[in-house]
Amino acid sequence: MQLNEKIRALNDYPVEGVVFRDITTLLKEPEGFKEAVDALAKLSDVEVDVVIGIEARGFIVGAPLAYLKGAGFVPVRKPGKLPAETLSREYALEYGTDCLEIHKDAILPGQKVLIVDDLLATGGTAKAVCAMVEELGGDVAGLHFLIELDALKGRDVLKDYDVQAVLHY
Ligand code: PRP
Ligand code: ADE
Repeated sequence: MQLNEKIRALNDYPVEGVVFRDITTLLKEPEGFKEAVDALAKLSDVEVDVVIGIEARGFIVGAPLAYLKGAGFVPVRKPGKLPAETLSREYALEYGTDCLEIHKDAILPGQKVLIVDDLLATGGTAKAVCAMVEELGGDVAGLHFLIELDALKGRDVLKDYDVQAVLHY
């Protein structure tokens, strides 16, 4: 099975000019979901203490990856969702701006962290998460994505890190 054939492309969503890569068509198929998570796991054998998944689509791929790696899972969430003390950061998106939060006690100083998300576009989201991890004293061991949109050059924004993706558009 070709993973990329299972991903649906929608023109002009959520705003004109964006080609939205919809992974729901991949995830709903048992082999598609399994193959996607297995492919993420094969990107590197780096050992980490914690896998971070970024709300919302990053949870879908990040949690099973943490399980496979025998690592803990830490959610980075949209504002107002985490109950304890948080660190927040605003960032720019391909289509607007947003804000993310992490619990201040989620990462301990010196812990090795793998950041996982479904898709790398401009890199604004991932860069904000790297900054939060580092502010908490964590070490970003790598960033793994199911999809990288090469033309948006998110990789350039993340040039200080080990960035890997399963599929490229
Ligand atoms: C999407 C995607 C990444 C981010 C990538 O999330 O899941 O997190 O955009 O964009 P960037 O590289 O330009 O920062 P979105 O904010 O749409 O949220 P969702 O996962 O809740 O759908
Ligand atoms: N997140 C940011 N850009 C995206 C795109 N083109 N498709 C799906 N998710 C996205």
